[in-house]
Amino acid sequence: MADKKAKLTIGEISTEFDILSGTLGPNVIDIAPLSKMNYFTYDPGFMATAACESKITFIDGDKGTLLYRGYPIGQLAAESNFMEVCYLLLKGELPKNEEYQEFCRTITRHSMVHEQIRYFYNGFRRDAHPMAIMVGVVGALSAFYHDTLDIKNPEHRASSAIRLIAKMPTIAAMCYKYSIGQPFMPPQNSMSYAENFLHMMFATPTEETVPNPILVRALDRIFTLHADHEQNASTSTVRLAGSTGANPFVCISAGIAALWGPAHGGANEAALNMLQEIGDVSQIGKYIARAKDPKDTFRLMGFGHRVYKNYDPRAKVMRETCHEVLDAVGAHDNPLFKIAMALEKIALEDEYFVQRKLYPNVDFYSGITLSAIGIPPNMFTVIFALARTIGWVAHWNEMISSPYRLGRPRQLYTGSPERAFLSINERK
Ligand code: CMC
Repeated sequence: MADKKAKLTIGEISTEFDILSGTLGPNVIDIAPLSKMNYFTYDPGFMATAACESKITFIDGDKGTLLYRGYPIGQLAAESNFMEVCYLLLKGELPKNEEYQEFCRTITRHSMVHEQIRYFYNGFRRDAHPMAIMVGVVGALSAFYHDTLDIKNPEHRASSAIRLIAKMPTIAAMCYKYSIGQPFMPPQNSMSYAENFLHMMFATPTEETVPNPILVRALDRIFTLHADHEQNASTSTVRLAGSTGANPFVCISAGIAALWGPAHGGANEAALNMLQEIGDVSQIGKYIARAKDPKDTFRLMGFGHRVYKNYDPRAKVMRETCHEVLDAVGAHDNPLFKIAMALEKIALEDEYFVQRKLYPNVDFYSGITLSAIGIPPNMFTVIFALARTIGWVAHWNEMISSPYRLGRPRQLYTGSPERAFLSINERK
């Protein structure tokens, strides 16, 4: 892999570093020998740092490309489904028919949660944010599955992966049911993954609901589009936590916590809240001006991306899905969606946004779509977490299956030099 060298000269000392090439994307300079020279690299926000080697997902932010195991996201969203994508991300190849059937059967058979888990929910306030409950309950799964916590055992890892993917919709729907005071609905083995989630969210013991197939398909597509995104903040958090040897359930819980922030997965909820705050198409100009004002901390939520400096390929698919759903539920005239469409148009033509390549991202459209499906805004990031679980698990498993080291960054220290302790009466 190392066919070229990079040379760094500091004072009179020159050192050569291997330049490593991947299959796609920029080459990377292996700077590990630098630590022996008593220098660290400094890269806040990891703008130019490859933290690991991975075979799972590739992004070209300038071209707007996203590949899962080499397959373009647009094609997977249009022609595949979330269960196939889970298999692909986890195992590296698309499943053959029998493998697919067996995988779906296994996921379906692990969707129930231990009966004790339902009692956890009673400990939370009814108005707790569902992401807060998710962080707690998913981490607590490690208290239930002692039998598969040996991370060095590939069968244990596979079993934990299945449990996490299978139980996430059940745990997520229980958060919602708890918040509205309705009984938990058990999962249904006859239903697909997305259909079952809608069932657990909206059915009650007194009334069955038959989820609209267009909404089921849209939700399945949302899951596919959010399944993985290489070394984003939450996936990096899962890898870092995993590098300590922590069990997969708490590592995923750490990922859920990182995802919650509004700069990451919390943006879909924040985008919808922003639309509500704007309130009317006539107010859009005021908010665009605020977003452009360097003295104002307000940002257009659902716009911009650290990696994509071209249209987010997920947003392209999500936009189409959004319109399909709006048609299916007859919501095109909903005032919130009107604001969203007008905002999108104005921002795409505005010099500030064009110059900075700030396009609507996946979360702008997923929030509107989820809202049209009937999902309350505080559940949006939960759905992101549910879908991203496969990506987290695939990255965690990839790391643990290969040689890896404890993740331990260093720092540029700018605090006080060493000084002597003074007792309280000596301090001035
Ligand atoms: N509204 C207004 N201005 C913006 C926005 C925005 N949404 N995003 C970036 N900018 C401006 C920013 O002020 C800066 O301007 P200047 O060069 O004049 O100082 C320039 O664009 C570059 O922004 P940055 O903050 O240096 O870029 P970043 O890569 O650190 O931030 C981001 C990326 C996603 C955090 C940011 O675009 C943002 O806060 N967006 C809104 C939140 C959001 O939608 N997040 C979801 C991301 S997609 C889901 C996911 O993958 O997690």
